[in-house]
Amino acid sequence: MNEETQSGAAGSKMWSGRFREPLDRVFEEWQRSFPFDWRLLPQEVAASKAHARVIAAAGILSAAELTTMLGGLEEVASRAGTDRHAIVAAAPNAEDIHHFVELQLTSVIGGLALKLHTGRSRNEQIATDMRLFVRESIDDAIANLREWALALIELAESAGEAVIPSYTHLQRAEPVLVAHWLLAYVSMIERDISRLTDARKRMNLCPLGSGAVAGATLALDRTIAARELGFDGPTPNSMDATSDRDFMLDFTQALSTLGLHISRFAEEITLYSTAEFGFVDLPEAFSTGSSAMPQKKNPDFTELIRGKSARLVGAATTLSVLIKGLPLAYNKDLQEGQEQVFDAADTAAGMLQILPAFTRSLKFRFDRMRTAATTGYLNAMAAATYLSNKGVPFRKAHEIIGNAVRLGLESGRELNDLKLEELREFSIAFAEDFFAAITLEATLDCHDVVGGTARSRVAEAVATAKSRLGENK
Ligand code: ARG
Repeated sequence: MNEETQSGAAGSKMWSGRFREPLDRVFEEWQRSFPFDWRLLPQEVAASKAHARVIAAAGILSAAELTTMLGGLEEVASRAGTDRHAIVAAAPNAEDIHHFVELQLTSVIGGLALKLHTGRSRNEQIATDMRLFVRESIDDAIANLREWALALIELAESAGEAVIPSYTHLQRAEPVLVAHWLLAYVSMIERDISRLTDARKRMNLCPLGSGAVAGATLALDRTIAARELGFDGPTPNSMDATSDRDFMLDFTQALSTLGLHISRFAEEITLYSTAEFGFVDLPEAFSTGSSAMPQKKNPDFTELIRGKSARLVGAATTLSVLIKGLPLAYNKDLQEGQEQVFDAADTAAGMLQILPAFTRSLKFRFDRMRTAATTGYLNAMAAATYLSNKGVPFRKAHEIIGNAVRLGLESGRELNDLKLEELREFSIAFAEDFFAAITLEATLDCHDVVGGTARSRVAEAVATAKSRLGENK
C-alpha cells in the first residue's frame, strides 16, 4: 500500500504509522472530540484555505493544485452543511474536525488532499480554529449587548421623570429617576463591551506556522495566513501559541462578569414583580402560570437567566482549573476546554437574544414606584442638605433631621407634613423655604453632579448613552 492510500483511507487515523495494535474500542469512542468540535467546520475550512495559500507560496503546491485544493475545501464545507447530525453522520469515524476535513477533502479531490497537512500540526490548527470561533463569538456578543443597552435606553427615555426608590442594604434610601436606575445597567453593559473588545484585541494573532510545538519545519511566510484570516499578525512564540488558551479564558471570564450583571438585573425584576414591591407587571409573553396555584404568574425568564449566569461562571472556572499547572506546550487536556467555550457562547447568546424584547415589554407601575419613593422619609437627606446650606454643620443637620423624622414617625406624618413651628423647635435654621427644598423634584435635583440623579443630568446621560451605543457604532 502506498503512503497516500494508507493514511487517506476512510476511517484511518492521522497518526497510525507507528502503531501495531488498534485502539481499545471504548477508549476510541470516548476520546473523540468530533461529537462537539464538528461546529468548528467553518473555522477549520477557513484556516485550511489560508494554510494552503501559505504552502503554495512555499512551493509545496503548484498554482493548479492550490486552485483544486481551495475549491475542494469549499466543496467540503458546502457538502457538509450546518446540520449537526448530517455532519457527524457524514464521517462517523472522524476523530476530530481536522480529521473530518481531511477525510472529506480526500473524497472530493483525492490524494492531493494529503498534501494539505504539509508543514502543519493539529496543535496549531485547533488553536487557530478556537481563536476564530472566539473572535466571532465576541463580535456577536458585542452586537447583542448593544441591542440590550439600546432597549434599556429606550425604556429609560419612555420613563421620563418617573421615580423609583433607590436602595442601600435593600432599605429605601433616596428617590432616583427610573431612567437613572436603568442607566446603571447600561454602564455595566458598556464595561462588558469594553472587556470583550479588549480580549478581542489581545487574541487577534494567528498561531498557524507554529507547528506541533517548535515552529513549522518549512520556511513558511506566516504573514500570509494571518492576513487571510483577518489576524493582526502571527503569534510570536510557537510553544505558547500551541498551548495558549488565555483567549478562551478572557472570553469566558468576560461572559461570566456579564452573566453576573444579567443576574442582578434578573434579581431586581424578579423582586420588583412581587406583590410586596409591585413595581413591574411581568410581560405574559415571558412568564408562565403554575400548574397548582391558578393565581400565579411566575417570572420564569428572569429566574432562568439568573440561573444561567452560574453556567458562565462555571465555564470560566473550568478553564482556569484546566490551565492551572499545565506544562508547556500542547496537552490533550486542552480538548476539554472547547465545550466550555461553546456552552458559554451559546448560553450568553441565548439570553441576549431575548433580553432586548423582554426589556422593551416591561410595564412599570409608576404609581406604586412613586408612592414608595415619596413615603418613608426618602427626602431626609435633602432636608439635611437644606440645613447645611443654611450654615448648619452637616453632622448637626443630620441629627436635627433625625429628630424631625422621629417626630414624624410618632405622629404618622412625613417631613413635609410637619409644621414650621414644630421644626423650629429643633432648629431656628428652618424657614418657610424648607418645604420647597424637600419636594420630590428638589430631592432629585439636589444631586446635580455628573453621574447624579438630578433631572437635567439624567436627561443628558440618556442622550450621551444613546449616542455612544447608537446604530452607527
Ligand atoms: N482534538 C484535539 C484538541 O481539541 C485537536 C488537537 C489534537 N492534537 C494532538 N496532538 N492530538 O485539542
